[in-house]
Amino acid sequence: MKEKITAEKVEKRSNRGNLVRSAFVFVGCYFVLLFIVFLMILISDFGNWQTYFTQHTNELISLVVSLFFLTGIVYIYYLFEDSAALIKPRNIVLVYTLLIISLIISYVFGEFIHIYSRPVAVFALLALFLINRRHALFLNFVFSFLMFVIDLFTEIVPATDINSEIYSTFLLSFIGGTVAIFLGEKVKTRGGLLLTGVFTAMPIALLVLLFNLPSIGDWIDYISSVGFRILSCIVSAILALALLPFFEWAFNRLTVFRLRELTSTDAELLVSLKAKAPGTFNHSLIVAQLAESCAVAIGENAELARTAAYYHDVGKLKQPECFTENQSDYNVHDEITPELSADIIRSHTKDGYDLLMEKHLPKVIADVALEHHGTMPIKYFYDKAIRYSGDADLKDFSYLGPIPQGKIAAIVMISDATEAATRAMPDRSPEKVEKVCRSIIEERMDLGQFEECDITMRELTVIKQTLVEALSGVHHHRVKYPAIQFNRDRQAVNTEGKDV
Ligand SMILES: [Fe+2]
Ligand SMILES: [Fe+2]
Repeated sequence: MKEKITAEKVEKRSNRGNLVRSAFVFVGCYFVLLFIVFLMILISDFGNWQTYFTQHTNELISLVVSLFFLTGIVYIYYLFEDSAALIKPRNIVLVYTLLIISLIISYVFGEFIHIYSRPVAVFALLALFLINRRHALFLNFVFSFLMFVIDLFTEIVPATDINSEIYSTFLLSFIGGTVAIFLGEKVKTRGGLLLTGVFTAMPIALLVLLFNLPSIGDWIDYISSVGFRILSCIVSAILALALLPFFEWAFNRLTVFRLRELTSTDAELLVSLKAKAPGTFNHSLIVAQLAESCAVAIGENAELARTAAYYHDVGKLKQPECFTENQSDYNVHDEITPELSADIIRSHTKDGYDLLMEKHLPKVIADVALEHHGTMPIKYFYDKAIRYSGDADLKDFSYLGPIPQGKIAAIVMISDATEAATRAMPDRSPEKVEKVCRSIIEERMDLGQFEECDITMRELTVIKQTLVEALSGVHHHRVKYPAIQFNRDRQAVNTEGKDV
């Protein structure tokens, strides 16, 4: 009997396929890493490398094996801690590109400038901003180990200092990187990143001062070594700052800096939105606040949610006058058929996506613009068509999708609809807002809008509670002001200027 293939089995097979594929990517990265490390050994011993390779065959075999195990550990770490990251080979390539580039930088500084000038925190800072803090902490340990390996097998470190220096390399890389990660976590601007380098240098300087007290007569060497170590932390921050835009572009990564720049009031598309569609701009500002609060509440990336919400309706820039929030007395929809109206309205998701891609904004932001209405019907014009002709195909009055593919798109979808529905409500008591918000979420669940994003019922409840709190807080009842004002003689008069 033919085996019945269920959706669960297909998913299991696809997961297994992804894990096998990612294992191959790891093996590929391992060989590139090995090649780079061998190249460093070769450059370091240029002239007598053949003798080196024959004399140190056993050590080199143990190097090949230990790097293989190290790669295996990274794979196992991702398997248990973040298996979703393994689905996209680009994530693994990013980790190894960061490791290899940071190693090369350290090697070049150590070989050609000074052993103590190696920017030990550059990897940690790049990993922090391009991946995340948790992975950066683990990967910083891997990087420190690789630095240790380079020192062990190359001749960067003078033979006389071999033991103490190799030990301090591992310790200072690990401590410098870890300090940089904890300090850099709070940084929100590129300028702040430079300060991280300065502050990272402080504990490193203290450690070096206490670690290696000089004998009499070595004071100049001692001071220069401390100075180089301090400089290396500042150089780490400068290099991280210089390399971040390249990685942001090459790996389509969104750093907190890029997100901040995109939500600046000077950002090109936001300036256009403010000038050409002020109603949409104001709506987007409120949706951004709501989406940010919801993302914080369910542990999603708040900066990303805020940025995506800022841009979710930029497609309306094509015909801003066709959208209620930008209209005053004249309504273009009074003069066209409901079918044409629905067509104009629903095209703003695709227009937004195209515009964002054309302006080279990150794809994840453009995806939210495309998905924020999912396949929801445009009720107003569907109802109008039914009233006019007695019949209408719901398909012609529905957004074209796709439905939200991630939690951020789902958050923006709910925040957007709730803001629009509560905007004109005269009574925004928590009970009334809760009722509206619940019906918005339930309607979208009934219409399968959350079926392709992994949002849970618990998270939807938290989102609803967050929106109720935020909207009833924003629109709290104001105290009714008495209709009086004061004249120049400081006498109270009514608003018509008569004495009260
Ligand atoms: Fe929209
Ligand atoms: Fe919207």
